[in-house]
Amino acid sequence: MAHRQFMFDAYGTLFDVHAAMARAGARLGDKADAISQLWRTKQLEYSWTGTLIGGFADFWTLTERSLDFALARHGFADASLRAALLDAYRTLSAYPDVVPALARLKAAGHGLAIFTNGTRAMVEAAIAAADLGGVIDQVVTVEPLAAYKPAPPVYAAALAAVGVAQPADITFVSSNRWDVAGAAAFGFATVWLNRAGLPDEYPDWRPDRILSDLGALQPPEAG
Ligand code: LAC
Repeated sequence: MAHRQFMFDAYGTLFDVHAAMARAGARLGDKADAISQLWRTKQLEYSWTGTLIGGFADFWTLTERSLDFALARHGFADASLRAALLDAYRTLSAYPDVVPALARLKAAGHGLAIFTNGTRAMVEAAIAAADLGGVIDQVVTVEPLAAYKPAPPVYAAALAAVGVAQPADITFVSSNRWDVAGAAAFGFATVWLNRAGLPDEYPDWRPDRILSDLGALQPPEAG
């Protein structure tokens, strides 16, 4: 079987962005889920608005700013809680299907890269915490481009970074449907990892395949 270059989004795909709140958010009581959702929503919104406006703050800075907004929006101002949530975000848990699936693909000889909006420092800390260091060959971040997904030049830079000639020769896996749309528009073969059973969206940029977890992930020729 030909070896395939896989490229995985990080946050929400490999690492559970809500694990920080689960670990360190007990003080927020029944507001914890809403604050965690708003934290993620604002983190992404800031990445998109910054890219459209033409400004760039790195993803850790956006993670701090979005947490500050989410806490303030719900009336919380607690510096030690903020610090604990950010510490937990540095070492998010991987979803339980991640390590076995990536180990299986690696053992079959496929290339495994992460392509993320996150900073290299953030992602390397998360990889170490999740024990993924032995299976990930390469981490590609958007930092050199100073722009965020789904801007087309960012996917182009990722393609160049892994040394693959044709976008269709990359299998790009993301749980973020907007990221799958960007990758499909650029020409990657795409897998939408629909962990949450969400309805489909972005009908102009459909995924090639939809999976509910990584257990069934295969190179395209294997079906
Ligand atoms: C990432 C964000 C989009 O890892 O989840 O790039």
